Amino acid sequence: MRISVIGCGYLGAVHAAAMTSIGHEAIGIDVDEGRIRLLSGGEAPFFEPGLEDLLQAGLASGRLRFSTDMRDAADAAVHFIAVGTPQQRDGQGADLEHLDRAVEQLCGVVKPGDLVVGKSTVPVGTAADLADRLAPLGVTVVWNPEFLREGWAVKDTVSPDRIVVGVPVSSGEEISRGAPTADGLRAADVLREVYAPAIEGGTPFLVTDYATAELVKVAANAFLATKVSFINAMAEIAEITGADVTRLADALGHDERIGRRFLGAGIGFGGGCLPKDIRAFVARAEELGRGSALSFLREVDAINLRRRERAVSLAVRACGGSVYERRVAVLGAAFKPHSDDVRDSPALDVASRLRGLGARVTVTDPAAIDNARRTHPQLDYETDLDSTLNDADVVVVVTEWDEYRRGLSPEHAASLVSARAVVDGRNCLDAAAWRAAGWKYYGMGRP
Ligand code: UGA
Repeated sequence: MRISVIGCGYLGAVHAAAMTSIGHEAIGIDVDEGRIRLLSGGEAPFFEPGLEDLLQAGLASGRLRFSTDMRDAADAAVHFIAVGTPQQRDGQGADLEHLDRAVEQLCGVVKPGDLVVGKSTVPVGTAADLADRLAPLGVTVVWNPEFLREGWAVKDTVSPDRIVVGVPVSSGEEISRGAPTADGLRAADVLREVYAPAIEGGTPFLVTDYATAELVKVAANAFLATKVSFINAMAEIAEITGADVTRLADALGHDERIGRRFLGAGIGFGGGCLPKDIRAFVARAEELGRGSALSFLREVDAINLRRRERAVSLAVRACGGSVYERRVAVLGAAFKPHSDDVRDSPALDVASRLRGLGARVTVTDPAAIDNARRTHPQLDYETDLDSTLNDADVVVVVTEWDEYRRGLSPEHAASLVSARAVVDGRNCLDAAAWRAAGWKYYGMGRP
């Protein structure tokens, strides 16, 4: 099939490359010339394992192209929209500026019978608005949310957990109310063809109305954020009762209804999705007059932010009551490992707060230093782990990279620092091994 992908960030670049890997022809469109130049040369503009191989294979096959010119999308019959929907600068809701601009430009190139398939995360109701806007052009809108995780984006795109496709449904009073219209059925068939290899491999394919498809995405992220904040709330209770939240999570996780994943207590969630998605969801619910249904997500957000402060207070305690003029080695800048993304990174927030208290902070990270420098130029960075640890009064681990979890021996680290104190902001170190090497170990929600 001939496919266009509008927006070549994490989502779009991976989607375009993945589409060619399963036999389609894809053109990726983005307004950012630098990004298009890199992608056209087979280089990923961000750290995403496996993406460059996929790009290079796609470019070599001649079925993958990138362009800044929307007119190059005119040959495609299916147009995926994968632009960002960040948090509004002056509010909690989603900023739909990129989406509006992409659709406006697409209107100039689409043909009757084309499909416009939204993948961006949007406030519920957006798909129906777009459908009204595109209907006069004979174009059907489909909502097909993505669930990819950074660091696993290639796998999540090629073999997703589920494919959700929101299509136009009948709105009449008759018995067919809620069932896909003829256009909706046709659109679902086209999407079945697009995702044929995954469907053949057993991936569930769910056809819904627009609102359900839009909600699946934000509900999934709200659930994940709630799960993380739930265990972090338990960490707060563990801290005053002497319990160990990691053992608690292990025990809870054995209940199949709960499961161990996303029960990692620590400095909480960040990134370009979970924080802004839960805020936008609350903002949308308020617009719809049902803010009370999601008021718990404000608490989820508040618990999450409190954990950053907890890591800071542990570092202060480790330094004997003040970090002023003390050397702090911060291990991690990315919002999670296997990513160079520092958007809303809890790691950098902790580093900045420590610096705000007068600490001499040095941050290191295996992948995210360049990005961190751009967003947090006030911090000092060091690429070499040993140099970061040199003469440190306290070590603060804020991103659970393997380089720190497994790669850093407590004995070796002890030979570099000036005081053996470590704050494990992700509960990712072997506490017993660090204690055995003479370290004061401070975990999150652990004795
Ligand atoms: C998240 C979702 O997991 C994806 O399904 C979704 O498609 C994506 O957002 C999106 O909306 O685009 P991602 O932002 O890549 O993916 O990151 P996650 O792996 O979900 O991690 C989010 C944050 O939660 C990270 O800061 C991570 O450190 C934190 N986290 C995760 C914890 O603090 N504890 C855990 O147990 C798990």
